[in-house]
Amino acid sequence: MKQQQLDILRAEIVAKHVCPALAVQASQLVMGDGNPNADIVFIGEAPGKAEDEQGLPFVGASGKFLNEMLAAAGMDRSDVYITNIVKYRPPNNRDPSKQEKQAFLPYLLRQLEIINPKVIVTLGRHSMEFFIPEARISEVHGQAIQKTITLGDNSYQWLIVPLYHPAAALYNGSLRQTLLEDFLSIAVPLKK
Ligand code: URA
Repeated sequence: MKQQQLDILRAEIVAKHVCPALAVQASQLVMGDGNPNADIVFIGEAPGKAEDEQGLPFVGASGKFLNEMLAAAGMDRSDVYITNIVKYRPPNNRDPSKQEKQAFLPYLLRQLEIINPKVIVTLGRHSMEFFIPEARISEVHGQAIQKTITLGDNSYQWLIVPLYHPAAALYNGSLRQTLLEDFLSIAVPLKK
């Protein structure tokens, strides 16, 4: 049921030509992966090369680390849902622009409405900035912040947990440890 709604939303993004300049140079739209009935949703930044090729988010080096963190918490990808704000790969893996993030935001929010998780984990500052714009990731990482988000006639209570982006932690041992600890502190209680 939720997957069907997500498939319709995906078709709408394509039909409405969201970010046509990104779309023409990407192989495909990367919508999401995992379980649309999950309590926890991860939001990254944008697909990279491996994601663009496979049509799935977080399947490259960052994804390998994300899978390791899930395993450390006794979970796998089928226990969560994983997506990005921007759903086409930016050329040469550059950061998504403000306009690109703005263009995809309404679709990300509709995706979240469909899934309606308990917890939204933002990976890196690009996905954090919409939910907690005033925050600095170095100060708020790992802290759960309750937010009421009103979309149309509906209000949602979501717990937002900002984490460092796995790519930032890949080659930085202490950041890697911090990210793993932050991750376990939210994921382990959620599993119970
Ligand atoms: N980095 C992201 O932010 N998203 C992906 O899907 C892969 C790498």
